[in-house]
Amino acid sequence: MPLVNTTEMFKKAYDGGYAIGAFNVNNMEIVQGITEAAGELRAPLILQVSKGARAYANHTYLMKLVEAALIETDLPICLHLDHGDSFELCKSCIDGGFTSVMIDMSSKSLEENIAVTRQVVEYAHERGVVVEAELGTLAGIEDEVKVEAGEASYTRPEDVEEFVTRTGCDSLAIAIGTSHGAYKFKPGTKPQLRFDILEEVSRRLPGFPIVLHGSSSVPQEFVEKINKYGGNMPGAIGVPEEQLRHAASLSVCKINIDSDLRLAMTACIREHFATHPADFDPRQYLKPARAAIKAMVAHKIVDVLGCDGKA
Ligand code: G3H
Ligand code: 13P
Ligand code: ZN
Repeated sequence: MPLVNTTEMFKKAYDGGYAIGAFNVNNMEIVQGITEAAGELRAPLILQVSKGARAYANHTYLMKLVEAALIETDLPICLHLDHGDSFELCKSCIDGGFTSVMIDMSSKSLEENIAVTRQVVEYAHERGVVVEAELGTLAGIEDEVKVEAGEASYTRPEDVEEFVTRTGCDSLAIAIGTSHGAYKFKPGTKPQLRFDILEEVSRRLPGFPIVLHGSSSVPQEFVEKINKYGGNMPGAIGVPEEQLRHAASLSVCKINIDSDLRLAMTACIREHFATHPADFDPRQYLKPARAAIKAMVAHKIVDVLGCDGKA
């Protein structure tokens, strides 16, 4: 099956009350772990590549890894640019075979966000590629941009109709309290997403797919393992999975997960070195790390996203 864009995926997800997982990929083991889980569970999939991932792994290597996953799984897979920060980057990914791009001008003024998003949409749509845009800013680190917690701002529902109409974007990432990275909420506080904002956005955009970034749940078993084996991640707290499940049952059609993959992989490798100090063959520690990613993604597909069997 060739790469697909998200049009059909999102329509089915919206109507079916589930979401598609958008997992960040940086190397072969990550691609394999994610796609093996999705393949066995017959889950539609978005593999997303950040600017940093593309610089790290190289566009062609990533394309070929994803092409291999298509052959091995025969799943509907969308290849998406995560947090594109310019028209030129989006264009390069579209020209290079991606089927979806995000243009993230959320830190700019509304008018500038609309203008650049519109430009990307015109280029993308002529080539069958879909575009995700963002309104509102999440705290945390997005590629090279770090947004301090105090500067993050929730999406203003009163902006969304004008934004979607004037840009023609295909999906909209909104800020309702999620944030990037492993330190999402202050220790001792109760994480609570702003479902009132999500519901008001959806009331204004009926049938329109909404995206949640920063949706790792930061499983404490991984944080504890990292800390047990020489790491130092006190206060790493994520989004409660039941809130993500609830969002998936509403208008949220795409849920972005990267940090949880990193935590699963790192916890596994740290444990491996602590318990097998003489090992020096990368296969010995990357094999269990890949298995940990597969288990994590399977859990997300079944228990959080609800997209198993929907491919
Ligand atoms: O939202 C950011 C993603 O987790 C990608 O992170 O820019 O370090 O690849 P990265
Ligand atoms: P996390 O850091 O919560 O995994 O978010 C990933 C993300 O939003 C990628 O765009
Ligand atoms: Zn993001």
